[in-house]
Amino acid sequence: MTNNLKYFIGNWKMFGDFGSFKIIHKINQYIYKNKKFNKSKIVLCVPNTLLDFFNKKLKSQLVSLGAQNCHQQEGYGAFTGSVSALMLKKMGAKYIILGHSENRSEGESYEIIKRKITSALKQKLNVIFCIGENYKEKKNGKTFTILRKQIKGSLEKRFNKNKILLAYEPVWSIGTNMIPKTNELRNTIKFIKNDIKFFFNTNKCPKILYGGSVNPKNIRLFSSITEIDGFLIGGASQSSKKFIDIIKNYYK
Ligand code: 13P
Repeated sequence: MTNNLKYFIGNWKMFGDFGSFKIIHKINQYIYKNKKFNKSKIVLCVPNTLLDFFNKKLKSQLVSLGAQNCHQQEGYGAFTGSVSALMLKKMGAKYIILGHSENRSEGESYEIIKRKITSALKQKLNVIFCIGENYKEKKNGKTFTILRKQIKGSLEKRFNKNKILLAYEPVWSIGTNMIPKTNELRNTIKFIKNDIKFFFNTNKCPKILYGGSVNPKNIRLFSSITEIDGFLIGGASQSSKKFIDIIKNYYK
């Protein structure tokens, strides 16, 4: 991963069908025509059902594809309804979201996430590792404690930090139109960066993204926080116009 890139990563969640390729196509065309965005990395994490289809249709690889989760087991196994990192890689995924709060809330433990990261890294996928506190934890002043626990609980010092992006997604901000105060967010991102540097015993920190209710209007607030290396965008990434406007407005 090149160092000064800004990441705009869409998480489509449970959305889309073959016809939704037009969204990716429009984004791809836009990036192609606007060379000034070549300092940005655009990734769309789509449902598994669309990966192979989109991958074959995407001729110029300006937009990269990603998956949204995988099973902890490497390779193949008797796990009904699941897919492994290996299978997703074969379908064209270059990135994978892991530890999303929507999966954690269904019982995904720190240990399971660690195993998922291990198998994704074995497949040389770029891991988008999500962390974030819920509303109660925030109110009780526990944000940093929770973030540190999530980091220590699922990362290993031996992991290739160059293949990991951390996405700070406060749970209370996902899909709610509520976003953190600028100062708070800047401090949290700084905290995560310091914690990660300490954890990996390095000066070179993995990229830190922000996710939670990012839209074309509020992106200007985020662009003033230079510590943020990019964004994980949910709802707004399901519209090519909104997604493109986010990128446009970021660089305004
Ligand atoms: P929203 O942008 O819809 O709030 O979702 C954020 C998210 O969960 C991205 O992973």
